Amino acid sequence: MSDRETTRVFVDCDPGIDDAVALAYLAARPEVEILGVGAVFGNNTVAVTAQNALRLLELYGRPEVPVAVGAERPLVQAPRLAEHVHGGNGLGDVELPDPKGEPVAESAAELLVRLARENPGELDVLAVGPLTNVALAIGLEPRLPQLVRRLVVMGGAVEVAGNVGSHAEANIVNDPEAAEAVFAAGFDLDLVALDITMKTVATAEWLDRLKEVPGDRAERTSAFLDFYAEFYKGIFGLRQCAMHDPLAAAVLADPHLVTEAFEAPVRVELTGTLTRGMTVADRRPRPRTDERRACRVVTSVSEDAFLDLMLDALR
Ligand code: RIB
Ligand code: CA
Repeated sequence: MSDRETTRVFVDCDPGIDDAVALAYLAARPEVEILGVGAVFGNNTVAVTAQNALRLLELYGRPEVPVAVGAERPLVQAPRLAEHVHGGNGLGDVELPDPKGEPVAESAAELLVRLARENPGELDVLAVGPLTNVALAIGLEPRLPQLVRRLVVMGGAVEVAGNVGSHAEANIVNDPEAAEAVFAAGFDLDLVALDITMKTVATAEWLDRLKEVPGDRAERTSAFLDFYAEFYKGIFGLRQCAMHDPLAAAVLADPHLVTEAFEAPVRVELTGTLTRGMTVADRRPRPRTDERRACRVVTSVSEDAFLDLMLDALR
């Protein structure tokens, strides 16, 4: 057993290929107790993302983790899915066996609230999909930001271009109202935005190293990433892919990997014609943190160490 303290985690996700690698990253760590997983719409429908969460937890050796079905649509707008990025089945059209398990009866928001109440001050939350479930959980339990130890969000594009339109990142723009509620709620929040995730990529060399790792977990994950790298080849112009969600998982499990961050209150544009879903950080010298708690926006990580840990998680 690692000499690290136990980390109790709730993961809210929309698997999704990079969500899969994030689950693998956490599942490989004996000191990480995944107390529950919430599924949300986003990369695919919530019916698909929930089944994928069950399949992936079985693939990565955590079949006992409860999976709860969450929101099938945003709080206000219509859902927008991303099958072109993650494939028709959400996992690069790679077939996995049907899951042996089934989702629990609770909703994702109800499971998150129950676990937060059962582990006051000790539950870390990783949110790597649209923030609808987290926003619904705040509605069920307004004390959630105080009950949860920390919240790590993969989302936003603070000082870089978006990936859905020019200014917005997918998880945020898929439910801007939910994201704004989460950023306003007062969590101890680490934001892993495109600012860092588009700079922290699985290179062709890393993808080839993964292909040399024997075993079903590595082989299936490598197949997921083949699909994902093909999409990102159209963006980067070469074979590599942004590891959005695994990097957020690493920031949660291995905070020492963060080498630079800035603190600022973050708001979400809700009414902009061109900028709806944009994450707006207040970077004035004296931002009004009396009105909104600042987030830590990650701007630099130990990239090689992260990539090594991500590969180790799949061995
Ligand atoms: O913008 C990237 C994010 O949107 C990742 O979480 C990816 O899985 C999708 O959900
Ligand atoms: Ca995701």
